[in-house]
Amino acid sequence: MNSSDLTDISGHLIIVTGAASGIGKDLAKHLLSRGAIVAACDKNESALKELKTISANPNLYIFGVDFQSEASIRDCVFRIEEELGSIHAAVNCVGILGKNGNKAEDVDIEDFDLVYRINLRGALIFTQALLKGMAEREYGRILHLASISGKEGNPLLVSYSATKAGLIGMVKSIGKEYANTGVTVNALAPALIETPMSESFSETQLTYLKSRIPMNRLGTTNEVALLTAWIISPACSFTTGFAFDLSGGRATY
Ligand SMILES: NC(=O)c1ccc[n+]([C@@H]2O[C@H](COP(=O)([O-])OP(=O)(O)OC[C@H]3O[C@@H](n4cnc5c(N)ncnc54)[C@H](O)[C@@H]3O)[C@@H](O)[C@H]2O)c1
Repeated sequence: MNSSDLTDISGHLIIVTGAASGIGKDLAKHLLSRGAIVAACDKNESALKELKTISANPNLYIFGVDFQSEASIRDCVFRIEEELGSIHAAVNCVGILGKNGNKAEDVDIEDFDLVYRINLRGALIFTQALLKGMAEREYGRILHLASISGKEGNPLLVSYSATKAGLIGMVKSIGKEYANTGVTVNALAPALIETPMSESFSETQLTYLKSRIPMNRLGTTNEVALLTAWIISPACSFTTGFAFDLSGGRATY
C-alpha cells in the first residue's frame, strides 16, 4: 500500500455481499482492479462460480450466504476471517424489491416480512458479525446499499422504501455508537441504477422513477463503484452514520 495515498485499498480484504449480480458484481470487479482482496458473497453460488471463472483473479474468493438466515450470515463472516484474515471493509449489496407495484392497502404482509428479513434484519446481523473484530483492530469500513426510496419514499414500493429507510436509521444509530472506534458505518442511497433489479420495474414505475432524476438518465454500476471505493478507503475517515447521495440530483441532501 502507498501510505501517502489514503484512497489506496490494495491489499485490503473487502467483503462484497450480493456480488453475483448488478451493483455488487461490478463493484467486486472494480475493487479487484484496484488490488483489493475480495470476498464475494451471495446466495446465488452458481453465478459466483461463473464470476470467479471469468475474472480469473487469484484475489477473488467466493462464499455462499443466505441473508434470510442469521446462522448463515454469521458463519459466512466467520469463514472469511478464518480463511482470509482480518476484514478491512464490507459493502452490503444484498437487497430485494419484493412484490412491487401494489398499492399500500394491497401489500402482501408475508412479502413485507421477506423484504424486511433480507433488506434490514440481514443487514443488522451482518453488521453485528463485523463490528467486534473491526473495533478491536480500531479500523473498519461498513457500507450498506440503501436507496433513494428510503430517503424520499416511492409510491407502490412500500416494503422496499420502508426497509431502506430502516437501513438509513440503522447506520445513523450504529455510526454514532462506534464513532470513536475507527470503524465507520454508512449507507449509500442511489436513485435508479442500470442493473437486473431496475429492469424488473413495471413500465409505469420506470417512467416515474426516471422522471424524478434531474440528470435525466439512470446511474451506472461504475458510478456506484467509484464512490464506494472512496467511502470504504482510509481517505473517508471523518464521515459516519451518513447516507451518501448518488441520485443524479434527485436528493440534494
Ligand atoms: N438497481 C437500482 O436501481 C438500485 C437503486 C438503489 C439501491 N439499490 C440497492 O443496491 C443493492 C444491489 O442492487 P442490484 O440492482 O445490484 O440488484 P440485483 O438484483 O442485481 O442484485 C442483488 C443480489 O442480491 C442477492 N440476494 C438476494 N437475496 C439474497 C439472500 N437472501 N441472500 C444472499 N444474497 C441475496 C441476489 O442473488 C443478487 O445477486 C440492493 O440492496 C438494492 O436495493 C439498487
